[in-house]
Amino acid sequence: MDAPDPSPAVRDGVHTPRRHDSAEKHVAGSALYADDVAEAPGTLHGAFGLATIARGRVTALDLAPVHAAPGVVAVLTADDVPGLNDTGPVVHDEVFLAASEATQSGEVNFHGQPLFLVAAETRHAARRAARLARVKYAEEPPILTVDEAMAAGSRVAEPYRMARPDAQGRDADAAIAAAPRRLAGRLAIGGQEHFYLEGQVALATPGEDADLHILTSNQHPSECQLVVAHVLGLPAHAITVEVRRMGGGFGGKETQGNQTAAAAALIAHRTRRPAKVRLDRDDDMVTTGKRHDFVIDWEAGFDDTGGLHGIRFTQMARCGWSLDLSNAICDRAMFHADNCYHLPAVEIVSHRLRTNTASATAFRGFGGPQGMVGIERVMDEIAFALGRDPLEVRRANFYDPPGRPRGRSTTPYHMEVEDCVIAEIVDDLAARAGYEGRRAEIREANAASPIIKRGIALTPVKFGISFTTTFLNQAGALVHTYQDGSVMLNHGGTEMGQGLFVKVAQVAASELGLDLERVKITATRTDKVPNTSATAASSGSDMNGMAVKDACGKLKARLASFAARHWVVAEHAIDFLPGAIRAGGEVVAWETLIREAYLARVPLSATGFYATPKIHWDRVNARGRPFYYFAYGAAVTEAAIDTLTGESRILRADILHDVGRSLNPAIDLGQIEGGYVQGVGWLTSEELWWDGSGRLRTHAPSTYKIPACSDRPRVLNMALWEKGMNRELTIRRSKAVGEPPLMLAISALHALSDAVAAAGDYRAYPALDAPATPERILAAVERVRHG
Ligand code: MTE
Ligand code: MOS
Repeated sequence: MDAPDPSPAVRDGVHTPRRHDSAEKHVAGSALYADDVAEAPGTLHGAFGLATIARGRVTALDLAPVHAAPGVVAVLTADDVPGLNDTGPVVHDEVFLAASEATQSGEVNFHGQPLFLVAAETRHAARRAARLARVKYAEEPPILTVDEAMAAGSRVAEPYRMARPDAQGRDADAAIAAAPRRLAGRLAIGGQEHFYLEGQVALATPGEDADLHILTSNQHPSECQLVVAHVLGLPAHAITVEVRRMGGGFGGKETQGNQTAAAAALIAHRTRRPAKVRLDRDDDMVTTGKRHDFVIDWEAGFDDTGGLHGIRFTQMARCGWSLDLSNAICDRAMFHADNCYHLPAVEIVSHRLRTNTASATAFRGFGGPQGMVGIERVMDEIAFALGRDPLEVRRANFYDPPGRPRGRSTTPYHMEVEDCVIAEIVDDLAARAGYEGRRAEIREANAASPIIKRGIALTPVKFGISFTTTFLNQAGALVHTYQDGSVMLNHGGTEMGQGLFVKVAQVAASELGLDLERVKITATRTDKVPNTSATAASSGSDMNGMAVKDACGKLKARLASFAARHWVVAEHAIDFLPGAIRAGGEVVAWETLIREAYLARVPLSATGFYATPKIHWDRVNARGRPFYYFAYGAAVTEAAIDTLTGESRILRADILHDVGRSLNPAIDLGQIEGGYVQGVGWLTSEELWWDGSGRLRTHAPSTYKIPACSDRPRVLNMALWEKGMNRELTIRRSKAVGEPPLMLAISALHALSDAVAAAGDYRAYPALDAPATPERILAAVERVRHG
């Protein structure tokens, strides 16, 4: 901690705003996505045949009409899978093709589950044919909601508990019972569709032997490789997965791309023809997983200043039909049940519920947002009960700031928070945004405005950085220098629009003292860097940046020792300059150095590796240090509602966010803006709705409303916190930025809640569930007015 920045010497190119490396290609349409690559002659197209019930068994499967449809080349079921008929990422509980033609059977676990696969000469032919199967089912009543799953004891995993007593040794129950005041409540938080603009897609091309190359849109190429190898019964070395870029992932391509890739691979494997599977938007929304929706019960004991004494959360998550990443996601919801607040005596119990819906999966924040919405509701309700400004109550409960321990820095999972800068950020933001004055002004204006009511809220964010599954915190890189001095950069991270590639290229350029333009950014490939982790948990630039730095360090060490020999100077007399080195008195251009090193048979290629230090996690006892550090930020949102229609609008947002020492301020601001707006969509307009038979009725943009350009607040003031500086030795002291800003949007939910409260003259607490759609807002207005 507080050690000097490890490499201050060459920093050109880092800490400076650089545009996304593909920005121009994105707008010109010349950035190649998987579906843009020219198709080889003979490419087949795949489409799934989907189940039309949510739960039950296939009792008869007549595929003859599918076979007979025009253009159909193959119809594949469970019978045709040579290896394991399963695409589960963590455990094998996720059957790939659910139906068998041979045995006329198959178990159905959700409406839209893939039963079989059609390969045809065109995509339309495949899609049309897939609808022609004659399937008979024995239907069972589906388990759809959290309440139904709780009642049936339907789970994908055992409940998990974290608890810590207070300084007096009292557990949560005792501390709540002894507190001067108590409150309890329940809130429901909806899920979220990723709505990446590029849907799931994979193109599999057969090579020699049984080899396959798969070009796909996937956050986790190494896992995709393993899953496909399992499905085909082949060793991993037979499968090469390549990802140049994704048109958005947001967690929805961490595991959910594997099914599409396995489908393309199976067709290519069986037919030895190239095969592409690109899900139609409706099929994509129906068959792939979304953010977990949660129901949270809570009970809190506190005092008259709003200080918490004890708290208990019961988090119930709808996980869908299979485990997928639900354990890690629900764990992260628990890890963020505290947000920025010290919870003196605490118990958190988490239920991971199995339902007959698509398997819920990773989504930006990975459970953290749901956990945080829980505690922010508690803060708000306490403030309301005490008649205080919610910001005052929030401040009263913050973790201790760094270097000022007052015994309020231990999390519910026994990790010490050593970097809690939230109080400073919140003070700074509140001043910049004029929070107090505006709050008073809004209350006054509301009194004179019978129909339109406004509200304001400031909420903080603390987000833990690292995969909580410790072994995932590793990354690899491969850096080549060619004879002309140009550099090719490869690492295990994937580009999904977040700007990882440009950040890591900035690191490489800066380490080698080169202009960014000399570093070629290349696709992620499992044959270049093996055994990588998903680009997820916001750790892409932290980990791949470090791995690339390691590789560059090796190259530089070799070059320095070569230069010392070649120009006969001491090694410490070698200096790396921009585009050159100094060897004693001589300045040698980079090209000359590389050419000479090549002729002297110095290896000009290096691998790099990084494993995040300090972290450990004991899951049995729910203790440890799952996170290397925390990222912080805060937002003030002002919103208005129309009390006659329930419609709402975000009028203004002010954001101050800590990215440490930014690797690229332009990219980081983009992540903050996108994260905030995506979070507002989740909490306000994006509503997933399954009917009573378990069919997702919001399966297209016609029925599912993501934010549009016009939903961006008219006034959006964003700033990187100037004092930001990672206390840990991360790459150039930066902090992860991918997910944390999404949770800044919780301020929007609370601003809406404040506006609804105004409709009832602040006499009743609105208890607004998420998403706060016009219907919910209208119902809440009725509640606060008429009880
Ligand atoms: N930004 C864009 N433009 N597109 C995305 O798909 N995914 C988010 C975030 N920002 C995403 C994004 C998610 S869920 C994560 S985990 C991080 O980016 C992953 O990238 P990083 O680790 O490089 O931040
Ligand atoms: Mo992000 S949800 O960790 O892919």
